[in-house]
Amino acid sequence: MIVDVNGLRGDFPLLSSGVVYLDNAATSLKPRAVIEAMREYYEEYTENVHRGMGRLAQRATDEYEGAREAVASLIGAKPDELVFTSGATASVNLVAQGLSWRKGDEIVVTRMEHHSNMLPWVRASRTHGLRLRFVELDEEGRLDFRSLEEALGPRTRLLAITQASNVTGVVNDVKSAARIAHDAGALVLVDGAQSVPHMPVDVRSMGADFLAFSAHKMLGPTGIGGLYVSEGARGEISPPWLGGGIVSDVTGEEYALLEFPHDMEPGTPNIAGAIGFGAAVRYLARLGMDAVLEHESRLTDVALRALRDVDGLRLLGPWRSDRRLGIFSFAIRNHSVDEVAALLSEMSGIEVRSGYHCAQPLHTRYGFRGTTRASLYLYNTEDEVRLLAESLGRISAILGRSGPGRATDAPAHIGGSKD
Ligand SMILES: Cc1ncc(COP(=O)(O)O)c(C=O)c1O
Repeated sequence: MIVDVNGLRGDFPLLSSGVVYLDNAATSLKPRAVIEAMREYYEEYTENVHRGMGRLAQRATDEYEGAREAVASLIGAKPDELVFTSGATASVNLVAQGLSWRKGDEIVVTRMEHHSNMLPWVRASRTHGLRLRFVELDEEGRLDFRSLEEALGPRTRLLAITQASNVTGVVNDVKSAARIAHDAGALVLVDGAQSVPHMPVDVRSMGADFLAFSAHKMLGPTGIGGLYVSEGARGEISPPWLGGGIVSDVTGEEYALLEFPHDMEPGTPNIAGAIGFGAAVRYLARLGMDAVLEHESRLTDVALRALRDVDGLRLLGPWRSDRRLGIFSFAIRNHSVDEVAALLSEMSGIEVRSGYHCAQPLHTRYGFRGTTRASLYLYNTEDEVRLLAESLGRISAILGRSGPGRATDAPAHIGGSKD
């Protein structure tokens, strides 16, 4: 199947404003089907879930659990393996706080993690007196598997690894990493925030124990996401938060929890969000994740070829489209990455992001003090990608050969400077 971009662009109300939206790694646009599903909940059957016998409560519960089924199915999981959380960050924190850590445990994280898959482990290691070890990256920004093997050992309790970097777009071979980690007796948490929206993901073939992801990066609303927990890992975590809606029996000091995953969702959940999330994954499933990946890979190819011609552009990550998703973080000589982002918006209506993108250690590893980041999704076109490169060419010429160097004045060895 092929993505009919021109046909589907009409589904996204914000695109009619003429914006060239290239900030998809931050958050995606929402199709009308998602907005409509949430409107329906608020206007036609607002009620709480899992609590009432009334018609509205039944429908709300059915739609909420239907969304769980749809989201689980997209990643090859069973509904009772999926916890709704407020997003990838909450999913990682749930595991970091829900695991019963043992004395002497070690946690292994990679140098390419988003802060959301790093800081919860830093704090867990401090709180419980555990050792935190880092896996290093090679010159192209890819995971160094030798370093991974060195970091893992008999004491490793958990490996936290992203499937795709939100800065370089590099896709990790998480299946091999999970196998090696499991051989060492460790659990594996995969951060799927940037992979689940853009490629087919199957938790079973991946072999992860936990997979964290967010709806808002995959056409869904903000404030909702998922945590897949394999049946085998279920017994390793207990609910970090307690309250209403997760108990079957309470007798004062004693209480009995509901079965997983309901014991992990205390309080009134984000019902409208879950329903919107369900609508988003149904939209993606109709297109087919293979088709989404293929479309974005083609655009990535076009983008890399066009960006090579931008004078002074230094790209973080590999220049090969088979090694990355459609995320391009770069600096233009020593010019301010914020200024480049502002000029793109002002001159061409292109929305991108600038800064560290919540991955400061990754930038530091390659000597970048921030980057401007353009990132693609299924509604982007070749014309938009070409406009990005042309606009950057003009910005490079306007800013000239030297500049104030406010945000970046670093060498760009990663992926090879094309200067
Ligand atoms: C790789 C990665 N992990 C985790 C997150 C955190 O996601 P959220 O802010 O939706 O919780 C992000 C968001 O940018 C991300 O790109």
